[in-house]
Amino acid sequence: MGTTNNQLRHIAIIMDGNGRWAQKHGLPRNVGHQKGAETVLEIARAAKEMGVKYLTLYAFSTENWKRSPEEVEGLMNLLRNYLSRNFKQLAQEDVRILFIGERQMLASDIQKQMQHLEQTTENNKSATLLVALSYGARQEIVQAARLLAEKVKSGDILSKDIDEKTFSDMLYTKGVPDPDLLIRTSGEQRLSNYLLWQMAYTEFFFTPTYWPDFTKDELKNIIEQFQQRERRYGKA
Ligand code: IPE
Ligand code: IPE
Ligand code: MG
Repeated sequence: MGTTNNQLRHIAIIMDGNGRWAQKHGLPRNVGHQKGAETVLEIARAAKEMGVKYLTLYAFSTENWKRSPEEVEGLMNLLRNYLSRNFKQLAQEDVRILFIGERQMLASDIQKQMQHLEQTTENNKSATLLVALSYGARQEIVQAARLLAEKVKSGDILSKDIDEKTFSDMLYTKGVPDPDLLIRTSGEQRLSNYLLWQMAYTEFFFTPTYWPDFTKDELKNIIEQFQQRERRYGKA
């Protein structure tokens, strides 16, 4: 216990509970997703204001493709809107935007918009927003293993030289510091295939708040609690 002032460079969030928020209000699930999308902009701006350099948001998992075609279609249309509007606003506020996940699974117009946003925000410096889309951590780790196997085969690298750094560099998050803090909304306490490699020493916070109701004030409150945590990294 005590007042350690932990460094907070990177926050990862599992934005969960849109469906239950909608249900609670007697509304269709996709309205919950729309409300949740509004929260994204507020939280991205708040994190930036608080000096957090990296924010990674779990927007759609590999497993979310198994939802009903109507829900997936609704989410993809929301994403299209977001790419052309809200993310563009962040781009104008000096935020760099990056996408992590299996992007080839997404429609080609969406992929084009993603690439465009990444290119146009490449030199933005105030903060970096990573959006996990069609993302699965196990798939990410498997593709890293495959890439390394190919490098060994072609003689680019010796298998004995593979270490944590060379492995990390094969992940979608190459060059991004590991998350210091993970927040999951909606009361679920699990990782759901999110950033498994990167969160080896991340501090976890779970809140019962549904994502559409999550606010800047709650974020501030969680950050204050995070500051009180003692991060030991295995040391005595
Ligand atoms: C999170 O909300 C958004 C996505 C997974 C796309 P959910 O849709 O999972 O909401 P709940 O968990 O059903 O309440
Ligand atoms: C995790 O939430 C994925 C996102 C928030 C995008 P889910 O709602 O899909 O996770 P489970 O199914 O409850 O584990
Ligand atoms: Mg959920």
